[in-house]
Amino acid sequence: MNIGLISIVPETVPVTSHSLIVLKNFGKLKKHKHSITIKKFFCENDKNEILNRILSGNFEIIGFSSYLWNSKLIKWLAAKIKEINKNIFIIVGGIQLSTEPEKTLLENPGIDIVIQGEGEIPFYNVIDNLASKKYCFQDIKNVCFRDENGDIKRNSKDDLMKLDDINYTLTMDNEDELEIVSYESFRGCIWSCRYCAWGELNKVRFYSEEKVMADLEYIFSLPKLRTLAFVDSNFFIYKKRALKFLKYMNSLNEKRKQERYPLIFPYFETNAESLDDDLIDELLKFPYDFKEGKFLKFGLQSSDKDTLKESNRRFNLEKFKSNYNKIINKGLKEVSVEIICGLPGDTLEKYKKTLDFLISDLNVEYFQSYFFSIVPGSYFWYHAGDYGLEFEKEAPHNIIQSNSFSKEDLCEADKLSYYLQLIYQSMKRIKRFVDKKVEKDKMKLYEKIIDFIYNNYKEYFCPSRHCSDNSIGKDLRRMVTPEYQKIKMDIINGAIDIIKNYNE
Ligand SMILES: C[S@@+](CC[C@H](N)C(=O)[O-])C[C@H]1O[C@@H](n2cnc3c(N)ncnc32)[C@H](O)[C@@H]1O
Ligand code: SF4
Repeated sequence: MNIGLISIVPETVPVTSHSLIVLKNFGKLKKHKHSITIKKFFCENDKNEILNRILSGNFEIIGFSSYLWNSKLIKWLAAKIKEINKNIFIIVGGIQLSTEPEKTLLENPGIDIVIQGEGEIPFYNVIDNLASKKYCFQDIKNVCFRDENGDIKRNSKDDLMKLDDINYTLTMDNEDELEIVSYESFRGCIWSCRYCAWGELNKVRFYSEEKVMADLEYIFSLPKLRTLAFVDSNFFIYKKRALKFLKYMNSLNEKRKQERYPLIFPYFETNAESLDDDLIDELLKFPYDFKEGKFLKFGLQSSDKDTLKESNRRFNLEKFKSNYNKIINKGLKEVSVEIICGLPGDTLEKYKKTLDFLISDLNVEYFQSYFFSIVPGSYFWYHAGDYGLEFEKEAPHNIIQSNSFSKEDLCEADKLSYYLQLIYQSMKRIKRFVDKKVEKDKMKLYEKIIDFIYNNYKEYFCPSRHCSDNSIGKDLRRMVTPEYQKIKMDIINGAIDIIKNYNE
């Protein structure tokens, strides 16, 4: 059968979904010699162009992997594809559209089947069923479908399989051209932060060390590759394993040097507490080049103990600080720290303290604030009522207000995070002046600077819901244009006046 797997990611995450690569290479599926093509798109692409390019594949079956950033588009595409050719069979998976699969089918007649949980086995079974023209899915675990009367049925879930039973051999399309790939060395998470669906749904399972090392060898043979983005929940939790892989990657980079291939930088989003001296020393051997991006992202989320406790986020502030400082002091400067704006139990005052912790205590160079999104399948999704969480109906389900955060306070927190990020990313001169003027309580001074920018220049920046990568990204791109250069200079000069006249 001619099968299309569709990957749609934001421009800020320019990498094909690893789960689709595994699905394409899944041994059982491969044996049947179906034609399987992965088509890649960005969420920012014109949706009609995406539609036309998908249709040009003449697929009989189309599979979409949904996430917060693409589910609205997938629903639109499924409806359009069905309108144009009702014989194309459409399968969706991924947490966003499979947490409430009946609702997805009810509201989206274009979608034929929703797969819940890990996709490999149910996807294979559905394809096998369609290839043999049976069209009855009641014996396939982990799927939700319409029966012959059009009634929606959800089958029971299967036990999670051992990862090595997935038996896939890693290969990629356009091997010689790839500059960035993603990879997962284990599935699941040992923690269960309540804002995240990762630990809530998946118990930890590993690919064998031999399998991961074979995959790394393949990845490190790709001639143009620069970035290897690990999408593990926390690569460093299993120290011995992580250390072995880091060492192996460093040795593979040595080989690349001899072959005159560009060296590869691994990228991790992780919890800083999981690192230790050995891991840090091995990380420092990678020739990180920060013109290429931030390669370590540490999830802090909040500096407030009670907010973290409410989120069931295990956290040791001292260890976080000490590991962060160790990395920075050893020379790995451009690490980014991530926080969440609007968590249950948090308030505007506590959130300002988190921002202050970032810029005064940690003295970060880079940070990212995400607006709290109520992720389908997460604890907070199921217990939203307990916290008075009111959130947007459409993905990414951003928080509107909660018992602890009023709408007005969220707007204020959003504004502060947005302008602080703009300053940190594109007006570093202001940061340098602030750092010289004050060591502690920097946020108080930044509030004055942000008020000045907001009151005089807000029309030049994104008007609402600031804390999304996209709006900041767009504004940052605009800020290099000649018109913005002038505004930027005016802002910097105004800010410097405020700093000079500031008395603590
Ligand atoms: C993919 S997560 C994984 C991070 C890593 N496992 C950790 O625990 O630090 C990356 C970042 O996304 C952000 N994030 C996760 N869930 C979120 C949510 N529900 N709303 C907003 N941001 C979220 C957090 O800042 C987190 O550090
Ligand atoms: S935020 Fe990180 S540590 Fe917490 S459950 Fe999600 S993946 Fe695991």
